Amino acid sequence: MCEPHDHSLPLSENKNLLKWVEKMAQLTKPDRIHWVDGSAKENQELCDLLVAGGTFTKLNEDLWPGCYHAQSDVNDVARVEDRTFICSLSKDGAGPTNNWVEPFQMRKTLKGLFNGCMKGRTLYVLPFSMGPIGSPMSQIGVELTDSPYVVVNMRIMARIGMPVYKEIDKNEKRVVPCVHSVGMPLAPGQADVAWPCNPEKYIVHFPETREIWSYGSGYGGNALLGKKCFALRIASNIARDEGWMAEHMMIVGVESPQGEKTYVAGAFPSACGKTNFAMLIPPAGFEGWKVWTVGDDIAWIKPNADGVLHAINPEAGFFGVAPGTSMKTNPNAMAALSRNTIFTNTALTPESGVWWEGMTDEAPAELIDWKGNKWTPAIAKETGAKAAHPNSRFTAPASQCPTIDPEWENPNGVPISAFLFGGRRPSTIPLVYQAFNWSAGVYMGATVGSETTAAAGGVIGKVRRDPMAMLPFCGYHMGDYFRHWIRMQRGLTQTPRIFHVNWFRRDAEGHFIWPGFSENMRVLKWIVDRTRGRAFGKETPIGYVPRYEDIEWAGFQFDKAKFDELQMVDRAAWRSEVLGHEELFIDLHDHLPPEVIYERELLICRL
Ligand code: GTP
Ligand code: SPV
Ligand code: MN
Repeated sequence: MCEPHDHSLPLSENKNLLKWVEKMAQLTKPDRIHWVDGSAKENQELCDLLVAGGTFTKLNEDLWPGCYHAQSDVNDVARVEDRTFICSLSKDGAGPTNNWVEPFQMRKTLKGLFNGCMKGRTLYVLPFSMGPIGSPMSQIGVELTDSPYVVVNMRIMARIGMPVYKEIDKNEKRVVPCVHSVGMPLAPGQADVAWPCNPEKYIVHFPETREIWSYGSGYGGNALLGKKCFALRIASNIARDEGWMAEHMMIVGVESPQGEKTYVAGAFPSACGKTNFAMLIPPAGFEGWKVWTVGDDIAWIKPNADGVLHAINPEAGFFGVAPGTSMKTNPNAMAALSRNTIFTNTALTPESGVWWEGMTDEAPAELIDWKGNKWTPAIAKETGAKAAHPNSRFTAPASQCPTIDPEWENPNGVPISAFLFGGRRPSTIPLVYQAFNWSAGVYMGATVGSETTAAAGGVIGKVRRDPMAMLPFCGYHMGDYFRHWIRMQRGLTQTPRIFHVNWFRRDAEGHFIWPGFSENMRVLKWIVDRTRGRAFGKETPIGYVPRYEDIEWAGFQFDKAKFDELQMVDRAAWRSEVLGHEELFIDLHDHLPPEVIYERELLICRL
């Protein structure tokens, strides 16, 4: 097909889409409209534009082919949970864990904010498919945005452009409308800044009408609206209505030396290890084992006609945490981000490369830090300045991951045998334990706690309840979401087993007891063997646990005493843990499913 050159001409014949674009252009008043075709040529033009405007630095082509670096505004570096709203018709629909504003009032506010907000800018019409194009599990959206940075990131993170217009023109699927503005109109002749944004931010969802409006931020989860806003907050609403699940989960396939493949999906809160686990390389002692990557952040999970849960990764790229990523911890991610990648808020090296804390053992002698200041190890020692922001990210194509699963774009998804929950817990929570059954597993997920991280604005390192790692992402009442989990099991012919993991338990000196990363394979093998009915699990008050001899230790020295410290179930600590569960439940009580209440009682009895 011939690529269109005049981007102002509509690329869709869908009347509703054309009418909506016209209406939004009247409201936002951009200087021009650009229909995104998704081609490589268009992408190059947009990247050149971003370089010319100072948003992007083109990286050294010999070291980082096809890569760019972006430095954001210092106040636009993470998701803004306190500015995120679920505007359902009733306040009760959003529940106590979400910010709610009456939808009519919010629409009035948005109308004011968006009126003329794109003056001096281009409105990009960006059609995207979450999930492989044409898959029965995929969903379609169109994002109207005044940010070319968003367009080039979305091109990596989702399927965009011409094939999506085709899907839209078929009129078979509902299209989710998403409107995004950085909230910084330009007066005639006014020079732009490298990272336009607005101190006032609104990330707004209307669940009933399936709409997303985002204002004031250019950053990741606030601006790439296919990701958290659509694939989790809106999709969780669609999924509840249609009988499937939209989860903050990575998906991996574990292949044994005999070729047996077992798929596992896992929910860990933001910056708690999903990407790393999804790209795990089996350690010494696991020759012949392979771990395949299906997804690193989001899973859409649906029972097939035989009652077996199948999952797709709705995304096409990884928007991963840069700090801590290295050839030692995650060589697969390093390979995936070695080319055609966008880096945001990492440090820049003098040879136009990127660097972040943990990438190499020794820091380069001199860098430009994420704020644009000169950085040296000596300066860092003196001031504590980080070269890269702790939430700096890479946007890399999933297809470039060496372990990408051959089935990762299967339109029908992959069969799921187990669910994992996990968080950052310095104490109390063992390395691994298995729930007694589905409802105990739902309780386990509902009571996940984790230390807060730099992925969102606010205090870091405080343990908070983050049910199913969905606290910032569930688009409706959390109690109803637990009910939906309970209900999901009813139609299944195979119930996935449910496990809890904690890579982050610390010893008395404050060191991690467990080495994590590759060594997590030892835990994963026990999980796979349990789901296949092959491994022993010892009963404890909180669930089944492996004994020392139930873990494969080949190629690794790890004391039994240390393992016992990792696995310790301290009754006194667990009694206060259960009281901690109550902190969240007390707010949800009138929506909690009876199963969750009874599971809590049973747990208390066992303790
Ligand atoms: P989001 O993209 O925010 O949803 O994060 P994520 O869950 O994908 O987290 P990611 O894998 O990017 O890990 C975040 C941080 O946790 C990084 O700094 C990692 O180095 C660290 N991390 C990941 N796995 C482990 C582990 O097994 N042990 C330890 N100690 N740290 C880990
Ligand atoms: C997260 O915070 O869980 C992320 C990054 O995956 S963002 O897309 O910014 O939400
Ligand atoms: Mn995430």
